[in-house]
This record gives sequence, C-alpha cells and structure tokens, in this order.
Amino acid sequence: QAVLLPRRDWSGHRVLVSAGPTQEPIDPVRYLSNRSSGKMGYALAEAAQARGASVVLVTGPTALPHPAGVEVVSVETAEEMSKALTMRLSWSTVVIMSAAVADFRPKHRAVNKLKKRDLTNPVLDLEPTGDILADLSARRTGQLLVGFAAETGDLLRHARQKLNAKGVDLIVANDVTTPGAGFGSDHNAATLIDRDGAISELGLRSKRRLADDILDAALRLARTAVR
Ligand code: CTP
Ligand code: CA
Repeated sequence: QAVLLPRRDWSGHRVLVSAGPTQEPIDPVRYLSNRSSGKMGYALAEAAQARGASVVLVTGPTALPHPAGVEVVSVETAEEMSKALTMRLSWSTVVIMSAAVADFRPKHRAVNKLKKRDLTNPVLDLEPTGDILADLSARRTGQLLVGFAAETGDLLRHARQKLNAKGVDLIVANDVTTPGAGFGSDHNAATLIDRDGAISELGLRSKRRLADDILDAALRLARTAVR
C-alpha cells in the first residue's frame, strides 16, 4: 500500500524565522506598532518544520497558536527581537525575516501612564530602531538570508533596492494593496527576487502554499554557493 509522505527536503537545516509586529512602548498602556497578523511567518515556520528543518520562531505579539514542533521565542520590541535573532544567528543555516519591525520608537518611555488632560498639544518624540536584517547580513557567516518588502508603489524597484541595500539572497515583495491578500488574510500574493535578479511572480494563494513556494526558492539558492 502506498503511503504519501511529506517532503523532508529541509532536513539538516536550522531555520530562524521572525514574525509578527513589534511593539514600542509609549507608556505602560500605549505603544507604537505595525499592521501584521504574523500568519505569513508562522506559515513559514510550520512549513519548514514539516519539511524536516529545526525551526526557531522569534515572534512579536500575535493572536496565533504556537506551531507544533517549533521552538517559540516571544518578544515585544525591535530591540528584543534583534537580540533574540542575533544570539541565534550562528546556530542557523537560513534566516527568514518576515516580521513587521517598527521603524521608529518613542525616545522616552513614560514610567507612569500619560494622562490626556495633561497633554494639551501631544507630540511623540521618535528615534529610528536598528535595521535588524541589515545588521544580520553584516554579521552573517554563510547563512542564507531571506527578507520581505512591504510596498505600495513601484514594487520591483523598491524591493530590488532593499535586496541590495540589506545584502540578502532573496526578497519576498508584497504589494500590500492587493485585494484579498496581506494583513490578517489567510492568502497572499508575492513577487520573489533573488540575488541574481531572477524574478518569479506568485499570484494569490494560501499563505501556507506561498510559504512552501518561498522555501522551494530558498532551498535552490542554499544549494548553490552562498556568497
Ligand atoms: N526590517 C528589519 N529591521 C527594521 C525594519 C525592517 O529587519 N528595523 C526588515 C523586515 O523584517 C523586512 C525588511 O527589513 O524583512 C524590509 O522591511 P520593510 O519595512 O519593507 O522596509 P524598510 O527597510 O523598513 O523600509 P520602509 O519601511 O521605509 O519601506
Ligand atoms: Ca519598515
């Protein structure tokens, strides 16, 4: 009798996946964040685990259950996410950066709750967070790096710029205005651009199916020499 077994083509790989938003505190009850359900990153972690990889998922706050068989590290801020990923970089063979990291954080975090009555003309003083992906790229020792690009305008141009600026092997570009795709949805569409400039367009499909397609592309790149 024939038994259908899942592909175990990722066995031997150790995959570090980031997912979800980060939250940058303003005071004990308020924060600055990005739109992100975490579904794409969780789907990637699940798919890599199902295909035989050891997976660590570093996740910002989401409403999703922890994927079975995956080690989950929960973080809140961009700084915490950066530390959690950096300390596991040397363990990993592949890093997939699907988190929606906040680009700015409040310069000062109020210890006590800010009272609206005291704020006649409220202004948030912000500072940039570090670019985690660019930082991992600078520190890497042979790991394959996969980044994401969330865009609204000229998708290919912006995504190519990010691929080069951050020095990654593969970028997953999302047009966040695509109907039925993206934030909160179980479906997504993406354009993959690799380090050699090869482009592949993946139309609307389930995030799990898209995760497997991204893993196919990453595995092909991992098999050819990593720069
Ligand atoms: N990223 C990161 N650290 C940050 C910001 C982004 O590691 N502080 C990563 C994201 O996880 C993603 C990639 O960089 O893999 C691109 O993120 P994106 O928000 O699309 O681009 P940015 O470089 O932040 O530029 P902008 O938001 O201005 O388009
Ligand atoms: Ca950003």
